[in-house]
Amino acid sequence: MTRHTRPSQPRPWSGLAVALALLLLAPVHGRPDDASDVALEAVRRLKGTDLSANPALRAAVENVADRLRGQPASVEVIRDFDLRSRAGHLVEFLAAHPEDAAAPDALRYLARIDPALPGKLLASQAVPPALLKAIGRSGQPEWNDRLASLLSSPAAPAGVREAAMDALIQNEPGARAVAEVARKGGLPAPLLDRAAEGLRNARWPAVRELAVGLGRGPAAQPSTPGAPPRDLVLKAHGDVARGAQLLRRDSVGCLACHKVRAEGSDFGPALTEIGSKLGKDALYDAIVEPSAGIGFGYEGWLVVTRDGDEHVGMVASETDSELVLKQAGGNSVRIRKADVARKDKQAQSLMPAGLADNLGVQGLADVLAYLATLRAPAPSP
Ligand code: HEC
Repeated sequence: MTRHTRPSQPRPWSGLAVALALLLLAPVHGRPDDASDVALEAVRRLKGTDLSANPALRAAVENVADRLRGQPASVEVIRDFDLRSRAGHLVEFLAAHPEDAAAPDALRYLARIDPALPGKLLASQAVPPALLKAIGRSGQPEWNDRLASLLSSPAAPAGVREAAMDALIQNEPGARAVAEVARKGGLPAPLLDRAAEGLRNARWPAVRELAVGLGRGPAAQPSTPGAPPRDLVLKAHGDVARGAQLLRRDSVGCLACHKVRAEGSDFGPALTEIGSKLGKDALYDAIVEPSAGIGFGYEGWLVVTRDGDEHVGMVASETDSELVLKQAGGNSVRIRKADVARKDKQAQSLMPAGLADNLGVQGLADVLAYLATLRAPAPSP
């Protein structure tokens, strides 16, 4: 019998035959982009196939990975087929596109095949902050030690320390490490304020408590803890022009998540016509207590993958095989349905509470006055 020289499972082979045919056809069809699309689709069908049993197939998949070099899709191919020889492509990709949605996947794969990677990548104090952001989005605690040492290093540039802190705050042990560094007095004032704010808005209640007693807000307004009282704000006369300015300040942050006409970013609902929808009292509530009435379709979800990664965001799209979570700041995370271990709707709004705390009574009244002027155009008669 020569059984072992022949493929013993006919079913996978029919799938393979289709995929191989696609792979072979790909380069001669249409524009190069189309060809890559077809090749990528073919390779996706092969996922789970053991390439070591078939050198020709391995060569074909490697060829596709090479053709996709530098593109986000290469991350998927290299990871799914464990093409370690192409790990260098991922490093290249990270250096060129640290802000890409695929960057955290690339980091996770690299850290898995090379556990010394966090140490290597973060050895220098000149890490690009965008890469630290991607590390944060990967949500992996294995980077925490290096991140914490960057954060506590007085020699590291301020932007790097800030980005290291933001990355740490993305996972619970990391957030605790930030609190620890802050408590030990290892942070200069601006970083301490940022730490306090990040921890106050963390999604783990026990971590939020760690923020108590750390710095809060700029020193000029230390005596206004909590939101400006509702009755005072609603009684105050708001200045529309000042409100328009305040809302656009980076430190207030509304436009990081909302659009006003063409300005801003579309994570939360557009505020372009919010004055037609909500009165001032409802606007006050929406800003001061976002979790009390979460807009339909804007609910936050916590998705935990089988690897233990946690992602929080809005469900932007969902198919049988894939879930796309949209996150504040414009990132989208694609998660394979097969990798999802748990998916929980969050009681807390994706809009952080406490945004109005530093505005004071007058500032918040100004913002409300401005929002009230954002109305739908009157219908023409
Ligand atoms: C991190 C992102 C984020 C930031 C920053 C943010 N928001 Fe929001 N906001 C949201 C999301 C998401 C929703 C929808 C969920 C909800 O209703 O709680 C929302 C809802 C709202 C609503 C209700 C909208 C409606 O159609 O019912 C208002 C009003 C609002 N935000 C105003 C503001 C203002 C003013 C600021 C700045 C002080 C701000 N937001 C900052 C994410 C954000």
